[in-house]
Amino acid sequence: MTELPKTEADAAAELTDLAARIARADALYHGEDAPELDDAEYDALVRRNRAIEAAFPHLMLADSPSRRVGAAPSGHLAKVAHARPMLSLNNAFANDDVAEFIAGVRRFLRLADDVAVALTAEPKIDGLSCSLRYEGRRLVRALTRGDGSVGEDVTANVATIADIPQTLPEGAPDVFEVRGEVYMAKADFAGLNARLLADAPDPAKARQFANPRNAAAGSLRQKDAAVTAARPLKFLAHGWGEASALPAETQAGVVAALRDWGFPIAEAFRRCEGTAEALDVYRAIEGRRADLPFDIDGVVYKLNRLDWQERLGFVGRAPRWAIAHKFPAERAQTTLRAIDIQVGRTGALTPVARLEPVTVGGVVVTNATLHNADEIERLGVRVGDRVVVQRAGDVIPQVVENLTAGEPRDAFVFPAECPVCGSLAERGEGEVVVRCTGGLICPAQRVERLIHFVSRHAFDIAGLGLVRVEEFFRDGLISSPADIFRLHGKRAELVQRERMSDLVVGKLLDAIEARRTIALDRFLFALGIRHVGEITARDLARRYGTIEAFREMIDRALAVRAETVPAIGENDRKFVLRRGRALVAAVETQGIGPEVADALLAFFAEEHNRAVVDDLLSEVRPAPVEHTTVASELTGKTVVFTGRLETLSRDEAKAQADALGARVAGSVSKKTDLVVVGADAGSKRAKAEELGIRVIDEAAWNAIVSNAT
Ligand code: IVH
Repeated sequence: MTELPKTEADAAAELTDLAARIARADALYHGEDAPELDDAEYDALVRRNRAIEAAFPHLMLADSPSRRVGAAPSGHLAKVAHARPMLSLNNAFANDDVAEFIAGVRRFLRLADDVAVALTAEPKIDGLSCSLRYEGRRLVRALTRGDGSVGEDVTANVATIADIPQTLPEGAPDVFEVRGEVYMAKADFAGLNARLLADAPDPAKARQFANPRNAAAGSLRQKDAAVTAARPLKFLAHGWGEASALPAETQAGVVAALRDWGFPIAEAFRRCEGTAEALDVYRAIEGRRADLPFDIDGVVYKLNRLDWQERLGFVGRAPRWAIAHKFPAERAQTTLRAIDIQVGRTGALTPVARLEPVTVGGVVVTNATLHNADEIERLGVRVGDRVVVQRAGDVIPQVVENLTAGEPRDAFVFPAECPVCGSLAERGEGEVVVRCTGGLICPAQRVERLIHFVSRHAFDIAGLGLVRVEEFFRDGLISSPADIFRLHGKRAELVQRERMSDLVVGKLLDAIEARRTIALDRFLFALGIRHVGEITARDLARRYGTIEAFREMIDRALAVRAETVPAIGENDRKFVLRRGRALVAAVETQGIGPEVADALLAFFAEEHNRAVVDDLLSEVRPAPVEHTTVASELTGKTVVFTGRLETLSRDEAKAQADALGARVAGSVSKKTDLVVVGADAGSKRAKAEELGIRVIDEAAWNAIVSNAT
């Protein structure tokens, strides 16, 4: 180990730096982002911190990493892919949202008004989700949720939780994954913190957990299962993953089976005939919230019929058949210390409130969003004001009320220039957001784009996280995405860097090489084009199949612009964008609205953006889309639905076509392969017949779907 700091000032400075780096590594490891330090690097930081603290005990920080128990496990756990992804839930905040959820389900399934929709309702436990896999009726593996696709192996830790059966009774399916929450009861949490306090040699330095959820997470995600064994963890089952067979045809039926097999089920679990009854359960659970032995943050409703769940499927990362009805957000009062302006990837200037630390629903909040200039004006906030902050679940805390409003004073002036690059900051017509006009000249936008580029749902480069990207950018090692793929030429420079041993650099360069071929949707998402999120990127990738076809569509749209006006003014530009948009729309891209079309054209109209993309394409190859959907007679075909379908909603029909690898188009053309006609089909049917396209009725469509699945 390198020498200890010589002076107190050096020691204090290094401790502050280490605390920040460790906190950041923890946040990245536990949160959404990819970790940027490997185990050895992380452990080295923690060891260095401990060594300095031992030599200068009086300099130990109030928020020293060593005071935070279990925030990070000692070393990282093995990662294992889930057999079936662990998804999240959409949220409802008001009764109307719940009614809309049910209405959406009815529309999707085309249920007649007199058909009842039975639900289950149960508490949403504020714990840590876990998937328990039984094979041959024995518990073989336990995984945390992780990112939903890949979890962490906590099998040894789970074996110490008394609530969790090690075997399933005779008659249970051969393969069955039980899913639920590992949690710590409120009383056990208080007891654990009291014990930690009593056991600490110096009570002033005692380590404490912030809330039961953190305590549960910190206790379960330990490399040493003996630590978990000494912690009072419990489990509540609420669902399942992969299963070779199901013990019932309803949610309530399977949950009853889980109970029979020995799994704890929330006592408040109810089957409800309809929405009104479900809302009664919500109110009852909310009323008992404080008396429940564990923390909850809402009520989860699920459709009771599993065949309906199956038909409804998923959209994005959440099922269409379940929703979390959240309790109202928790609020607290504090003082506004400063308003900082952050510049995001797309140049948006976002005001952030720096606050006097305050505990809101068990979490210490020091920053909150103020959204935009209008919001600042509406609240009339100024530095020094008393404000109300609100925190709802995993949403970013926000300032919702100003308690000092009304007193005479100068208003906060929203900057007219980008605080990072000094370019003009503009607010577009009808927009709420003020944007830096610097584009890629603005370092903030460039670095944010790079961070986005390497993020988990984009290029996902292991070892290249937020901190390293910022450092590499600052030190001139990378300034555009393509530079990342040229880092191998800078190996000597890299190994000179702090925390970059030969081994670490080797691993990083390997991880970069591994991404030279990348799925087209990830590639498109990574470009960071406004309005092109993961789902849109996937739709575009599916629609165009290859980067060449995608660029051709863009070039055609841009060509319209070039032909129309050689030298264009602002009005012409708008006109041309509209024309270009019409062209994009004409390509009938599924799910691509005018907003996305505009954003795509605006992006590719910029010379420097095209240069960045071309440069990147000289280094990486986006792989053509392989349809992972069921191979069927419809794979790659274009289908048009017309007329009124009796058994299906349009959404469900579309989802079915999607699952079979088919494209759905809105109008019949020579490119159409199949037209499905419902009642009262009009001109589209006639046109299809005229063009000699295969026309089938709804029953034939249903037959195709059931044969394929
Ligand atoms: S059902 C397909 N039921 O909430 C989605 N989830 O926001 C299955 N959670 O990660 C989730 N209590 O771990 C369900 N009664 C409950 C729950 C519950 C807590 C967690 C779950 C999930 C998260 C989604």
